[in-house]
Amino acid sequence: MMNLVKTSKALKLPEGTDICLRGWIYRKREIGKKIFIVIRDSDGILQVVIDSGKVPESVYKEALRSSIEASIETCGTVAKEPRAPGGVELKAYMFKTWGFSESFPIKGGEGIDYLLDNRHLWIRSRKLTAIWKIRHTVLSALREYLNDNNWWEVSPPILTQAAVEGGATLFKVDFFGKNAYLSQSAQFYLEALIYSLEKVWSLSVSFRAERSRTRRHLYEYWHLELEEAWARMNDSMKVAEELTSYAISKVLNERLEELHFLKRNVEKLEIARKGSFPRITYDEAIKLLRKRDVKIKWGEDLGADEERVLTEYFDTPFFITHFPKKIKSFYMKLDPERPDVVLGFDLLAPEGYGEVIGGSQREDRYDVLLKRINEEGLNPDEYKWYLDLRLYGSVPHSGFGLGVDRLIMWISGLDHIRDSIPFPRFRDRLYP
Ligand code: 4AD
Ligand code: MG
Repeated sequence: MMNLVKTSKALKLPEGTDICLRGWIYRKREIGKKIFIVIRDSDGILQVVIDSGKVPESVYKEALRSSIEASIETCGTVAKEPRAPGGVELKAYMFKTWGFSESFPIKGGEGIDYLLDNRHLWIRSRKLTAIWKIRHTVLSALREYLNDNNWWEVSPPILTQAAVEGGATLFKVDFFGKNAYLSQSAQFYLEALIYSLEKVWSLSVSFRAERSRTRRHLYEYWHLELEEAWARMNDSMKVAEELTSYAISKVLNERLEELHFLKRNVEKLEIARKGSFPRITYDEAIKLLRKRDVKIKWGEDLGADEERVLTEYFDTPFFITHFPKKIKSFYMKLDPERPDVVLGFDLLAPEGYGEVIGGSQREDRYDVLLKRINEEGLNPDEYKWYLDLRLYGSVPHSGFGLGVDRLIMWISGLDHIRDSIPFPRFRDRLYP
């Protein structure tokens, strides 16, 4: 076949070049004896004009029959046209329809439930396509950073026997008549693996049966977790900072066009790519909240509303550390100087987004960990293997989990986490 190109390449070719394109009809208008079709492919869009005076009648008729979202192939000559998107159009002499599209169900102006029922078609939209590209770049940046910094990638299980992050949000699965659960976090498996590989990470799906209907919760989300032997809390925070700013930087370098298409104001991202995220303690966070008239007692958890207020104080992502132990998980190491708080940290994204990373130094003392398991009313038998890790060569270690979808949501400036992922699992939805 002759010179088959993508739309973005076509925009850069000299006038008079003959090319062919494949794609889907994005817009179509008939003006007089001409049909103007904007073609969409995975790269972008390009205007094609089919002039009845210049093509055989069969070609013109084929173009007339084809409508929005039909898949087509066309060949023609590249010409300058200031009124066309990108300033270029293709003067077609061949036009063929691969798959017709009678009355595409999404015409514009539909409500959210209708759109979600048609998510399998909605994902073709230019807005969502831009997000999928940003998502790709975020994922490749995260991998790249970890590979470049000598982290080992490992593969944790998804079917598990016990909770990592509390029983309330577990999805139960029938395991041959016994209960099993979908993993909330790979953390404990990563902790086991540091004794062979020292620095490990995984990217897997985590499940949370959270009934709260918020803009930032999915039932099923992509979780990047890492764990490092010998690392203290501050070491792990440094990794969180570098990893996040690396991803932001790569998106700014490679996906600026998509960010602009989404009308994302990139000012805050430009600041964040430099790293050096501010750090405050939970105690300081409480003071900042009270300054803004938020009524909160020491020891209460920070929800989405409190986090939103805190983000108003910062231009970049920022850390909160040293949380009261009763609002955090049993595995977090108690601060030796102040055993009512843990060596835990969250990283919050600015602009109202809030938590994207949760991490901590882990309790590495057998007796203290066993006591914490009992205090929380958990069954130590279910955590026997996890406790074992403290019996055979225990080391200080730390790690965190990054909510990939939340990071993408913030970087892309989305109102809702559902659009960070093609087929979101939220609000009782399993379809499509
Ligand atoms: O703060 P979380 O619950 O921490 C853990 O699971 C640790 N065990 C991770 C670790 O140390 N290895 O979850 C980590 C991150 C959160 O900061 C958030 O970004 C994301 O996972 N997250 C969710 N993202 C989307 N939907 C949900 N329902 C989420 N729950 C947590
Ligand atoms: Mg958390």
